[in-house]
Amino acid sequence: MTAMKLTVRVVLMMFVILGVVTLYVSYTAYYSSTLKVKQPVTYRTPFRDIKITAVHPKPPEKACHSVETQLKFDCHPENFPTKEMCEYRGCCWIATPARKKPISSPDPLDSQAPVDVPYCFYPGNYSAYRVINTEKVFTGTEVLLKRDSPSYYPKDIQYLNVNFNYETPTRLRIKIYDSVANRYEVPIVLDPARQPPHDPAYRIHIQNDTFHFKVIRKADGKHNETVLMDTSLGAMIFSDQFLQISSLLPSHNIYGLGQHRSHLNLNTSWSRFTMWNRDHFPIEEDANLYGSHPFYLVMEDSGLSHGVFLLNSNAMDVILQPTPAITWRTIGGVLDFYILLGPTPIEVVQQYTQLVSRSFMPPYWSLGYHQCRWGYNTTSRTLDVVHRLRKAGIPQDVQWNDMDYANNYMDFTYDPEKFGDLPAMVTQLHSEGLHYIMIVDAAISTAHTKGSYPAYDLAIEKDILVKDGFGKQPIKGKVWPNETVWPDWSHPDATDYWTHVVSLFYDKVKFDGMWIDMNEPSNLGNNDSVTLCDFNSTLENPPYLPAVANYTLRFMTLCATAHQSLGRRDKGLDLPGLHYDLHNLYGLMMAQASYKALERSRELRPFVISRSTYAGHGQYGGHWTGDNSATWHDLRMSIPAILNGNMYGISMIGADICGFHSDTTPELCQRWMQLGAFYPFSRNHNEQGTIDQDPASLGPGVAASSRRALLIRYKLLPYLYWLFYRSHVYGDPVVRPLFFKYPQDQITYRIDSQFMWGDALLISPVLTQDTTHVNAYFPRDTWYCLYSGKRRDSLGEYYNLAAPLDIINLHVRAGHVIPQQEPSLTTTESRKNPFKLLVTLDEFSHSSGELYWDDGESLNTHDRKLYTLIRFKTLKNKIYSRVDMLGYKDDLLKLEQMTVFGMAQKPKQVKVKSNLHDDFYYDDSHNVLYVNKMNITLYEAFVVTWTFTEIKDLS
Ligand SMILES: *[C@@H]1O[C@H](CO)[C@@H](O)[C@H](O)[C@H]1NC(C)=O
Ligand SMILES: *[C@@H]1O[C@H](CO)[C@@H](O)[C@H](O)[C@H]1NC(C)=O
Ligand SMILES: *[C@@H]1O[C@H](CO)[C@@H](O)[C@H](O)[C@H]1NC(C)=O
Ligand SMILES: *[C@@H]1O[C@H](CO)[C@@H](O)[C@H](O)[C@H]1NC(C)=O
Repeated sequence: MTAMKLTVRVVLMMFVILGVVTLYVSYTAYYSSTLKVKQPVTYRTPFRDIKITAVHPKPPEKACHSVETQLKFDCHPENFPTKEMCEYRGCCWIATPARKKPISSPDPLDSQAPVDVPYCFYPGNYSAYRVINTEKVFTGTEVLLKRDSPSYYPKDIQYLNVNFNYETPTRLRIKIYDSVANRYEVPIVLDPARQPPHDPAYRIHIQNDTFHFKVIRKADGKHNETVLMDTSLGAMIFSDQFLQISSLLPSHNIYGLGQHRSHLNLNTSWSRFTMWNRDHFPIEEDANLYGSHPFYLVMEDSGLSHGVFLLNSNAMDVILQPTPAITWRTIGGVLDFYILLGPTPIEVVQQYTQLVSRSFMPPYWSLGYHQCRWGYNTTSRTLDVVHRLRKAGIPQDVQWNDMDYANNYMDFTYDPEKFGDLPAMVTQLHSEGLHYIMIVDAAISTAHTKGSYPAYDLAIEKDILVKDGFGKQPIKGKVWPNETVWPDWSHPDATDYWTHVVSLFYDKVKFDGMWIDMNEPSNLGNNDSVTLCDFNSTLENPPYLPAVANYTLRFMTLCATAHQSLGRRDKGLDLPGLHYDLHNLYGLMMAQASYKALERSRELRPFVISRSTYAGHGQYGGHWTGDNSATWHDLRMSIPAILNGNMYGISMIGADICGFHSDTTPELCQRWMQLGAFYPFSRNHNEQGTIDQDPASLGPGVAASSRRALLIRYKLLPYLYWLFYRSHVYGDPVVRPLFFKYPQDQITYRIDSQFMWGDALLISPVLTQDTTHVNAYFPRDTWYCLYSGKRRDSLGEYYNLAAPLDIINLHVRAGHVIPQQEPSLTTTESRKNPFKLLVTLDEFSHSSGELYWDDGESLNTHDRKLYTLIRFKTLKNKIYSRVDMLGYKDDLLKLEQMTVFGMAQKPKQVKVKSNLHDDFYYDDSHNVLYVNKMNITLYEAFVVTWTFTEIKDLS
């Protein structure tokens, strides 16, 4: 920037500041002069009285009747809308027959009734903010807004800044915040802006009078321009505890807004997604669950795609309506949007994970099969299951314990009777090539004698616990060990505290990872005691309450007024943080502390699985989808759940295989083991009191097909590991919906009963009872059956595939080279086996692939370049390799066998490097070539050639 420009900018900024101050000083005068006051009214609801201080003019009848049903945005989303209340707000009231369910007399349950066409809606051009200054700056455009008349919520923010920051060619940030006072902002570190781009993929349009904006994807050679966001309808409200903005969506194909149980493709025909992390098993569709991910991805009609992330951690409702449009309603913080322009869905996920963080690099063993249950109540029972699986020939890498191991459910203790030899048990597991993980709950027990329980004593000493609503005492509640307190992960010393207590336990028990639970945080006790919370605070009683369970934010968790360390709510005032703002970050921050504690105490790659999550969680750990049930519906809905997790950058994700609650059945468990063998995180887990459901316990049929599915997983682990490396470094999702690969094929937009590993493997499980066929969609491409190599050229069709009880349908796309390894019963063993390549030729006989290899457990091997990366490519009649990085050398890196699908005819000769090689076999029923005993050292470049005519010299 030249000095001249800089001076201009400084002068302009001074003008703006002066303007703000002048306007701020005179704002009270403005405020009352534009107000249309009648008598203040008190409006009674069964829960509380609402004082109405501002009454807006009634909109003209005509203006109301001209609003089409599709364009109605709810002006009275909270309890008990009435005509009178609606008109005080200056909104239109039409009791529309379009509503499926009429609004009856006040009924408390109605406040969380399904959303629908509103009776009370905004007239067009509902007054909100207007622009009083616009400035082009180096990073984009900055706009200053003023509110002329009050909204119908307390404490309107009168002056707002709206910064349009051009962060990268495909990333635009729009931050809307209070011009005068600081407010709470989500304290997580995001990817910083780059040099402002010269020619970004987007442009913006700003309307001045009634402020609204559009974000437009610019046209390119092939596509017309598309409006991605358009806030011209609804009403933008920014008051202290009610922030709302609506935006038109360019299509109905919207995904994300987790965490909820729902189909992948969200329903825009009136649905509400509440975000407020809670301990609740996924049973109702769309209800708020353990995590919050205020992010969505849209497939535009052109097949291009974009994503939008709202960086806000307060309790919120997100409404989708058939306009199609989205409305965000949050009760704190600021509106801080990141718009990611893709344009492919994979690029949207790459851009999102670049922003919030890429997923952690898992240890290799964690890709194996995990066995867990609540009810392995002694060490010998725990070991029995390991040996039962071993005996049945079922691979397993990790054995887990639920709370059974702990002494009176206390973290970092073990039961002296039932688990007295836990250290020895873990040593034994290690000697058998397995790993061990135990549960660790968020809450810390208070019941013990002083000096006997470091997890509590040290927390008191370091003063790192969450405090009550008056900031006095550690807030107390009740979890499994009876009375508990909660570490405040936002405290600067919390990670050191956690590292200390984790290390003390690790000194005794050489566990390999942590399963962190109850970290929404869950509180099973009743925290309505007046000594705990400031019940009269508006934080406990916000003027708008999102559709949280039991009509209160503190239901089964800490109170909203509980004090935490991080947070500053007012300029110049160093106020404590509040659980009100930080609640949704509790699990994320616990995962971060646990990741660091593991890294420091074990000095190996951490492995953390957490129940509660927030945006950016994937960098610290994985997730299991919570306490599901042994039902076919739960089996079915696990697919959208794992696909969503991958879209949020949480690559290591799985559902409890065979179901957590209630007894499973052999048939359900058999199908679930087949599907679960293809979850990124493959763990079988169930509840105390239910039958055993490890795959060796339900009869020979379940055992045999579980073994078969898991052996395929184990064989494919080198490919899965490469996918995790891609996810860690480039942000590619490990598992993907079909539309990620085929964004031009609209049939794929709604498919969530099948999914893919990377671009190569299509998984088409059976998801219903008594079913031995699967109706599977094959996008237009060439596919090979993974088992036989049988080729299928699809034009984009459904095929009815045979799916006998012992089989899961697996197909590979043409064009890949997939590294494999002969499976063993643990990865410790399979990593010693020679490699194989599966080559799937496309119509031009091309294919390509990579192998990423390292020691599987050291820290930061990618950054420290302690890995080996080998590329494979086929061209015409040869496959060759290139070693792109040689940072990990291992004598076991041998290529022994190669299978080529789609080899049009039997080769006459095969040459490995420069030698003729006799040991090959051609299956002419499916056109598959098998080359055996190749004995190639993988970290040297090689070439394998085949010819269809005999020639002397191939070189
Ligand atoms: C809004 O005001 C700015 C600055 O005065 C101007 O550049 C812009 O064109 C206006 N926008 C519209 C849509 O009128
Ligand atoms: C462990 O659980 C089994 C099965 O529920 C039960 O039979 C056994 O008595 C329990 N053992 C102990 C030590 O609690
Ligand atoms: C649980 O804690 C409460 C209060 O902290 C105490 O009164 C009660 O006796 C405890 N119960 C048990 C079983 O220890
Ligand atoms: C809350 O308000 C009620 C009624 O005004 C009062 O009696 C009570 O003491 C207040 N409680 C607290 C914790 O301030």
